[in-house]
Amino acid sequence: MFIYNRHRRLRKNESIRSMVRENHLSTNDFIMPLFIAEGEGVKVEVPSMPGIYRNSLDNVKKEVQEAWDLGIKSVNIYCKVSDNLKDNTGKEAWNPNGLMQNTIKLIKDTCPDMIVMPDVALDPYSIFGHDGIIENGQVANDQTVDALVRMTISHAEAGADFVAPSDMMDGRIGAMREGLEENGFDNVGIMSYAAKYASSFYGPFREALDSAPVDNMEIPKDKKTYQMDYHNAEEALREAIADVEEGADILMVKPGMAYLDIVKLVKDNLQVPVSVYQVSGEYAMIKAAAEKGWIDHDKIMLETLTCMKRAGADLITTYFAKEAARLLNDQ
Ligand code: PBG
Repeated sequence: MFIYNRHRRLRKNESIRSMVRENHLSTNDFIMPLFIAEGEGVKVEVPSMPGIYRNSLDNVKKEVQEAWDLGIKSVNIYCKVSDNLKDNTGKEAWNPNGLMQNTIKLIKDTCPDMIVMPDVALDPYSIFGHDGIIENGQVANDQTVDALVRMTISHAEAGADFVAPSDMMDGRIGAMREGLEENGFDNVGIMSYAAKYASSFYGPFREALDSAPVDNMEIPKDKKTYQMDYHNAEEALREAIADVEEGADILMVKPGMAYLDIVKLVKDNLQVPVSVYQVSGEYAMIKAAAEKGWIDHDKIMLETLTCMKRAGADLITTYFAKEAARLLNDQ
């Protein structure tokens, strides 16, 4: 046969394949999530997330140093606080000596160049397990935004490089930007969870932080009045545009694998860094299937992460950060 386009010429061997490769995964792409526990000497594996631990601060120090040595440049932080610190105002979230604030200080002391991005949302501090303050049986937007601004400023005071609001209240990015500017933190950035969907992929995370919405007839049983409906795509663009106008530096799409069309949509329409979150349920699925021997763990891990880059993500928050970094460093 005479065929003009023999596409297979560019796939002949690994040398030519590596030369024409369009996307590359690197340790610079990763943001590593960390679960922090109170106390000392605590290292508890999250049952549905093999290899992921809730660590007390002494262990976090080791964990962060190890990540830095592997080439990981950034961490997202999530704290699990005891029930007696939870209420409906979430005020523990801006305690200057709170677990989050102490974690930020410790990480900046251990690895000054590590980009520290604490999570901003009230759920770990809420008796109701919601991302905001409950009033008249609903998550009250504007009161919650006030609380998130206080939380943001306390993170900045502790030394955060970016804050990462995952709450999905309206108008919070502008309010947080204003709060940061007014308090002299013009260099602290915002990675906004712009398109965060009400997803069932977050189950293992809520187990890790004991932060699921509580079962109570008086309050919403899920987060659908603030997180997005997974039937929608255009709406993600409206959220993303609003967040950029309000001053977001990086936009986050979440979850990851089932939402790569949203990553592409946002990246194609807005010229800002886009991050994607490969969430706890995605991690759990891969771990479980690999444990059964049904899929190849390492290959699937690198494939899913690389496909996120191909979809347009500049950054990936992933529980695989350290494992993937080790493989990439060995290559
Ligand atoms: C809460 C928050 C959640 C996640 C990150 N921040 C859970 C939720 O919205 O209920 C999920 C992350 C994951 O599943 O890995 N503000």
